[in-house]
Amino acid sequence: MQTIGSLQFWLTYHCVVSVFRVEGGAPLTGAVAVPGAKNSVLKLMAATLLAPGTSELMNVPDIEDVAIMSELLRRLGCEVNHVGSTITITVPHRPDHRADYDLVRRMRASICVLGPLLARCGAADVAVPGGDNIGSRGLDMHVDALRKMGAHVKNEHGYLLAESEGLAGAQVFLDFPSVGATETILMAAVTATGESIIENAAREPEIIDICMMLVGMGADISGIGSSTLIITGVNSLKPVSHRVVSDRIVAGTWAIAAVMTQGDLTISGVPPQYLALPLEKLQTAGALVESGGDTIRVRMNERAQCVDIVTLPYPGFPTDLQPQFIALNAIGQGAALVTENLFEARFRFVQELARLGADVRTDGHHALIRGREALSGAPVEATDIRAGAGLVLAGLVAQGSTTVYGVSHIDRGYAEFVETLQGLGAKIERVEA
Ligand code: EPU
Repeated sequence: MQTIGSLQFWLTYHCVVSVFRVEGGAPLTGAVAVPGAKNSVLKLMAATLLAPGTSELMNVPDIEDVAIMSELLRRLGCEVNHVGSTITITVPHRPDHRADYDLVRRMRASICVLGPLLARCGAADVAVPGGDNIGSRGLDMHVDALRKMGAHVKNEHGYLLAESEGLAGAQVFLDFPSVGATETILMAAVTATGESIIENAAREPEIIDICMMLVGMGADISGIGSSTLIITGVNSLKPVSHRVVSDRIVAGTWAIAAVMTQGDLTISGVPPQYLALPLEKLQTAGALVESGGDTIRVRMNERAQCVDIVTLPYPGFPTDLQPQFIALNAIGQGAALVTENLFEARFRFVQELARLGADVRTDGHHALIRGREALSGAPVEATDIRAGAGLVLAGLVAQGSTTVYGVSHIDRGYAEFVETLQGLGAKIERVEA
C-alpha cells in the first residue's frame, strides 16, 4: 500500500506536468482587477522577520513564489497562515538563520532574507542562488554594502555566510540602481546604529512599498521614491498590517494583450503612473489608452505599429515587460529595435517565438523584430515567467493552436493566469500532459 502511495507521489511530482493550450484569434474584452505584486510581496514577507510578533499582509497574490517564501519562513521558525488574499506571519523571538539550497534554487528571490536575518539574528546562512534563465544575476552590491556596514561575509560551499556583532550605518553608492541590493541594504539598515545613506537607490514602486511597510513598523526612512534613501537606525521594529502594492507587470501584460488581440480591456487596481512609459509605447503602437484613478482602459482596432523600446531601471521601460513587447512587435507593422540593458540572457526566448514564425534577430543586447502579418501556432517552451507570458500572448494571436510547455514558470508569477484570460474571452486551457 505504502509503495503505491509513494509511487503516486512520485508520479504526481515527476510525471504530471501542465501545459497551456491556446487557440489564437479571440480579442480580449472586459474588465480585470490586478492582484498584489510578486516582486513586492516576497520582500515584504522577508521584512516581517525584522519584528517578533504577528504581521499581516493584504492583497497577496495566489502564486507559487508566495508558497515557496511561506515555506522558507516556516523553516526559519515562523508561523504562516493564508486566508484568501491575506497572510499572517508570526515571527519568533529567535528565528533560525539558514535558507537552504532546495528552496533558494526554486526561487532566487529567497536571497531577500539575507538582510533581515543578519539584522535580527546577527548571522545569516543563505544558499547562493546562482544564475538563471535570464542572466548571471550578481550579488556583489548586496555583499559589498553589508561589509561596509560591518558584517563579515564569505562564500563557502555554495552558501553566503554572513555574521555581525551589530551592524553600523554606512554610506553606500550603488554602481547600478539594483532593486535587490536596495532592499537588502534597507532591511539591514533600519535597525543598524546610526545613519545609512543609499545613493543611486532603485526607485521602483516595489521599493516605495517596502519603505512604507518598514516605516509602518517604526523605521525612520527619508527620501522615499527618490534615488537617495536616508535611513536612521532605530532600536527595534514592531509588527505591521500592510497592503501589498498592485502588480504593474501583470497590469502591463494585460494591456499589451489587449493591443495584440485588438480588444478592449479595463484594468483596475494599479496606479497608471506606475506604467507611464509602457502605456505611452502602446499609444505609439496605435492603441487608445484612457486612465483615471487606479483604472486603465486600453482599446485597439487595427494592427499595431512596431515600437522601439529600451529597458532601464524605473521609471525607464521595465525589463519584465520586454518579452511581451517583443511578442507585440512580432505581429506589428514595420520593424522595431528592442534593447535589453538588465538581463543579458532575456532574449533566449526569441528562439521559441521564432517557432511561431516571428522574425527576430538578436545581436548582443539588441533585438531587431520585423513584424509579420500573422504567426502560426506551434509547441513552445517557456523559459522564465515573462518569456512564458510573451509566448502565451503570441499564441493568442497566432493562427491555429499553440501549446506552451514550462508553464510552472508562469504559475510562479501570475495568479490564476488561465482563468483570468478565459474570463476575458481568450481560448486557453490548462491541460495535464
Ligand atoms: N546586479 C549585479 N550585482 C548585484 C545586484 C544586481 O550585478 O549585486 C545586476 C543583476 O545581475 C542584473 C541587474 O543588476 O543584471 C539588475 O538586478 P536587480 O538587482 O535590479 O534585480 P533583482 O532584484 O535581481 C528584481 C525583480 C526582477 C526584475 C528586476 C528589475 C524580484 C524578485 N525580481 O530582480 O523580476 O526584472 O528587479 O526590475 O523582485 C521577474 O519578475 O520576472 C523578474 C526577473
